[in-house]
Amino acid sequence: MPATTASSRRTSAAGRAPAGEPRAAAAARSVEQRAQEAARDEVTRPPGAPDFAALLGQDPEIAGVLLAESARQSDGLQLIAAENFVSPAVLAALGSPLSNKYAEGYPGARHHGGCEIVDLAERIAVERAKALFGAEHANVQSHSGSSAVLAAYAALLRPGDTVLAMSLPHGGHLTHGSPANFSGRWFDFAGYGVDGDTGLLDYDAIRALARERRPKALVCGSISYPRHIDYAAFRDIADETGAYLIADVAHPMGLIAGRAAPSPVPYADVVCATTHKVLRGPRGGMILCRGRLAERIDRAVFPFTQGGAQMNAIAAKAVAFAEAARPAFRTYAHQVIANARALAGALAAEGLRVTTGGTDTHLITADTAPLGVDARTARGRLAAAGIVLDTCALPGAEPATASRACPTGIRLGTAAVTTQGMGEAEMHRIAELIGAALREDGAVRAAIAGLVGRFPPYPDQG
Ligand SMILES: Cc1ncc(COP(=O)(O)O)c(C=O)c1O
Repeated sequence: MPATTASSRRTSAAGRAPAGEPRAAAAARSVEQRAQEAARDEVTRPPGAPDFAALLGQDPEIAGVLLAESARQSDGLQLIAAENFVSPAVLAALGSPLSNKYAEGYPGARHHGGCEIVDLAERIAVERAKALFGAEHANVQSHSGSSAVLAAYAALLRPGDTVLAMSLPHGGHLTHGSPANFSGRWFDFAGYGVDGDTGLLDYDAIRALARERRPKALVCGSISYPRHIDYAAFRDIADETGAYLIADVAHPMGLIAGRAAPSPVPYADVVCATTHKVLRGPRGGMILCRGRLAERIDRAVFPFTQGGAQMNAIAAKAVAFAEAARPAFRTYAHQVIANARALAGALAAEGLRVTTGGTDTHLITADTAPLGVDARTARGRLAAAGIVLDTCALPGAEPATASRACPTGIRLGTAAVTTQGMGEAEMHRIAELIGAALREDGAVRAAIAGLVGRFPPYPDQG
């Protein structure tokens, strides 16, 4: 911790004209030159890059954990809606000596020396995020999706303020008012839900609740809502009732980047997201906002709710943003949805009740009760067959709790299997295998091994 006091700390919005510009320019020149030299010399492993042999020699216990987890990820079918396989380039940035660097503050205004190189990483990440999502301001320091939401609340709210968000039994996240979370403890949350018959958001009911409760902020976003959200409708309700609109799009952020889902950026005051779901970046969070809120958001992240930024993760976010800006990522994002639609239809044909009758996104929730299996048993049978997914509360079910103690449905997503190169044909096969595993009729484990064996997540490193 450097010898500065909190009051003497200067934070500036990331990406603004920094103090010490000549140093920054020199650092940029040196970085460019080094990359050119490394390309010329065909460098594959710079000093400090991950050395698995060193880990294996020094700590076989943990090396074994790494190997076993790699095998688990490639030997089974990964259908957890919040997971994905990041590229080797993202992993290279994550496992780099940037992890060694302390960097409290923002580029050009740090409280530690020697930040001129990592400042470049953060400036690049911020500029790429702004360009990718068309945002006026981006903060890429949040350590997680929850930290991003915490910072958004810290920037806009005071303890005790009323906030409207999706209730947890209907698909809200813990940070949307769970009594077990800071959000439920520090704010007065009122939960809106989905229509009991259709499973769709009822915007008239949300408007009526907002008129009644007059919240300081309205939160849209969910962990399990499979349909696109009408951000314009939420904006209209927020405007009518004088509330800030916070979009927590942790799940669809990658679809938004790939232009496969509508963007909340033109509508929300603050957009919070994770970088590690469909977006296929490192585990972490990010915040986008209007320019007028930039300073408040930056201060809410640091120094209010976080300390030093994780510069290796920020560099990895920059890599992921560049990947997501490529045409191939748009193709990927659209394929994720095509796969989810195919899978939802095929699961319905297997006899599961698919919530809302389908999906617009990467995410499907379904009731296994029509097959005579409760969700927890379903998850166990599927896990035994090598199919990994989550259980979740289903809207209208009794009485789902914040701690998810009463899961009543399964939640699955197609981000990871699409990264592996699977298409609609494989989705039909997966649905058949899920049906067979739930009915306990067939050698599903062997069939899953055969399927995933054709789609290794890291084919060139095998
Ligand atoms: C809507 C939503 N908000 C916030 C989060 C929290 O993200 P993290 O687990 O990175 O804290 C999630 C994670 O699933 C989410 O779906």
